Amino acid sequence: MPERIRIGSVDDFADEQLHTVEVKGTSVVVGRAGGEVCAAKNRCPHLGLPLNKGPGGVQYDGGQVTCPWHNSRFDLATGENLDWTPGFAGMKVPRWSSKLIAMGKKPAPLDTYRVVIDGDDVYVEV
Ligand code: FES
Repeated sequence: MPERIRIGSVDDFADEQLHTVEVKGTSVVVGRAGGEVCAAKNRCPHLGLPLNKGPGGVQYDGGQVTCPWHNSRFDLATGENLDWTPGFAGMKVPRWSSKLIAMGKKPAPLDTYRVVIDGDDVYVEV
């Protein structure tokens, strides 16, 4: 049975911003878009690099997070990969070179957490 861990109040997570919290020693990114709060492990499935810091800066828009390293884009609610290694540090590269950037890694989803809002409290289930 999953354990619920409180990560803050709804007001702690400003709309359209990516936040980072620690959950049992694991870094977790939390985004709120249109009233929905979503969370995933702060680890890009491409090379395992953090989503909250890198040369491309934090990119979170409309519930989608873009990795600051090679621009892979994900739906934070479902973890689904929407674009895989299309560039570097926020810059686009020709499509043929995105395969080189992928370094043989196949598209993979984010490792998401179920988020529960109870009153004003926000929890993730781990
Ligand atoms: S580490 Fe995220 S796209 Fe490469």
